[in-house]
Amino acid sequence: MEDSEKKRLEDNDRRYVWHPFTQMKEWEAATPLIIEEGSGTYLTDIYGRRYLDGVSSLWVNIHGHRKKELDEALISQIKKISHSTLLGLSNVPSIKLAGMLAERAPSGLVRVFYSDNGSTGIEIAVKIGFQFWQQHPGGHKGKTKFISLVNAYHGDTIGSVSLGGIDLFHSLFKPLLFNSLKVSSPYCYRCHLDLNYPSCFMACLDGIEQIMKKHSDETAAFVIEPLVQAAAGMIVSPPGFLKKVRDLCTRYNILMIADEVATGFGRTGCMFACEHENVSPDLMVISKGLTGGYLPLAATLTTKDVYDVFLGEYDEFKTFFHGHSYTGNPLGCAVAIANLNLFDSEDVLSGIKEKARFLDERLRAFDGLQHVGNVRNKGLMVGIELVMDRSTKKPYPLSRRIGTKVGIFARKKGLLIRPLGNVVVLMPPLSATINELEAMAKITMDSILDVTERSCLS
Ligand SMILES: Cc1ncc(COP(=O)(O)O)c(C=O)c1O
Repeated sequence: MEDSEKKRLEDNDRRYVWHPFTQMKEWEAATPLIIEEGSGTYLTDIYGRRYLDGVSSLWVNIHGHRKKELDEALISQIKKISHSTLLGLSNVPSIKLAGMLAERAPSGLVRVFYSDNGSTGIEIAVKIGFQFWQQHPGGHKGKTKFISLVNAYHGDTIGSVSLGGIDLFHSLFKPLLFNSLKVSSPYCYRCHLDLNYPSCFMACLDGIEQIMKKHSDETAAFVIEPLVQAAAGMIVSPPGFLKKVRDLCTRYNILMIADEVATGFGRTGCMFACEHENVSPDLMVISKGLTGGYLPLAATLTTKDVYDVFLGEYDEFKTFFHGHSYTGNPLGCAVAIANLNLFDSEDVLSGIKEKARFLDERLRAFDGLQHVGNVRNKGLMVGIELVMDRSTKKPYPLSRRIGTKVGIFARKKGLLIRPLGNVVVLMPPLSATINELEAMAKITMDSILDVTERSCLS
């Protein structure tokens, strides 16, 4: 690429593109990093500089970039057809993929409803959960509310924001949102009950049970990110918590919606996080890793019990009146099939165990750092929470942008990471090698040290 073209791209990015979750005033004053190519765990910018992709291109990439089998699946599907609708028609890849998902999902999840991204997948789960009770033969029309967790993130559309619990992102939109009942999440490092695991015996579950009991007659569903509240800063729930939540949902006749958008497809070490505790939700939302990080696609899976309530004569109008233009897109489904096949042929899940063990060990070195308050990890999902003062757990004010500064330093050393506030995040592609993980850990350590200890910022 000519230098003049590179310059034009930079100028036009600043002039025309509005970047998500980005203060554009700052962005316009800086030089954008423009990615042109990728291969394996590496991304390359328009100047030919290479970077390790430390967050899997926003938690989507699984087998690395330019994976031969995924490229070929797409090319082969393009030669047949790129898009046809699922409204009134079907298409080959969407049927095959639905079967493969039903086979691999936690038991009982046998129906697949497609959409385009995690947020729409959640909207669909909410609408199915709501409509289910409206037309349930048992007469439960009062069950219209949703319970979700403090610190939850389920996406950016209005329904998913209504379930969200991150004030910085969500509180402004309150007048637009439906009211969801919020319960505290098990953020053990900053326990709202001021207890310690395991001697607490997960007392936080009592609060959840109380809300469920009190609102059982008016609650449609409980929504949870199983095992890891990702966008809140990789908050890992204590072992057994998810299973107990499942039991409570059953006891109080509340549907359980598992949001596996971030945790699905091997990130936590199992195909789906629910499997760690042998949990089968009533609805499960998947996206991100579904296509190996190639194309936008989501699916909302549900059980026969839920699905059956939508069956009836046409003029009973029990139909689920919902559908997006690109639902079941054949290109997305074809690459998702190839993605799942790679999980089998390359035995990806066994490989993750070794990598997760390595990372787990390597991360212990961060525990002793002066400004690292808490290191949390599950599988290949890692959050390192930086604090001003370890003894009091005093957080850095967000205005100090400590996480961003760590990211900027890491970028100079060849690692792309994107923090969540004061939490430094690592979520490498599952295909990252041990050497690449070692390099990521080393640069992250160096970056944290530089920003929190070597500079005057600490
Ligand atoms: C748990 C969870 N749910 C939903 C979403 C929303 O997904 P999308 O950004 O594809 O709309 C995300 C995105 O990060 C997520 O982490």
